[in-house]
Amino acid sequence: MTFDTEKELVVRPLQPHEEIPYDLLLLAEETIEAIDKHIKNAEIYILEYESRIIAVYVLQIIDNCTLEIKYIAVDAGYQGQGIGKFLLEDAASKAHARGYSSMIIGTGDVAVMQLNLYQKAGFVIYDKKENFFINNYPEPIYENGVQLKDMIMLRKELR
Ligand code: ACO
Repeated sequence: MTFDTEKELVVRPLQPHEEIPYDLLLLAEETIEAIDKHIKNAEIYILEYESRIIAVYVLQIIDNCTLEIKYIAVDAGYQGQGIGKFLLEDAASKAHARGYSSMIIGTGDVAVMQLNLYQKAGFVIYDKKENFFINNYPEPIYENGVQLKDMIMLRKELR
């Protein structure tokens, strides 16, 4: 679906009475159980377009200085049109406005597109959680035909 970039995009917090957009979050995570585990105490932000939720990101406070983008996902029909990039900028500006000085994000070692996107958005690799996807998931996960093993962590300084 083509996305009209002329329209103003508003990202807002999901309200308590609204349903968690599991369909979108499942693009970024394996199971609802894993999502539920990770969204406890987290903040869910959504992007609506033509009255539909088409993208989501989830922020988790790590400490007084750092927020983590726990999940980011764009409806498959709207991917590749700059929305992911826009959401990363939106998350960084919201975090900066709240006084955080850095933002982190993690992704699989073979997630080439995501690593590309995050680095283009100013995130820099600072750590690798070895065997994260092997130790934390009951089944092997494959991306681009390769088994996910390590989680690559990236950080962006906010200024
Ligand atoms: N191949 C390679 N690179 C690509 C591709 C592609 N098919 N699509 C996008 N990119 C890269 C490019 O570098 C692009 O920058 P450019 O346009 O300047 O070349 C950059 O990503 C930005 O692309 P967007 O169009 O902004 O990305 P999109 O709106 O598709 O959102 C996202 C990216 C969130 C990863 C989306 O594709 C998605 O929801 N994927 C499924 C869920 C997922 O994998 N989420 C991340 C898991 S990790 C986590 O949640 C912390």
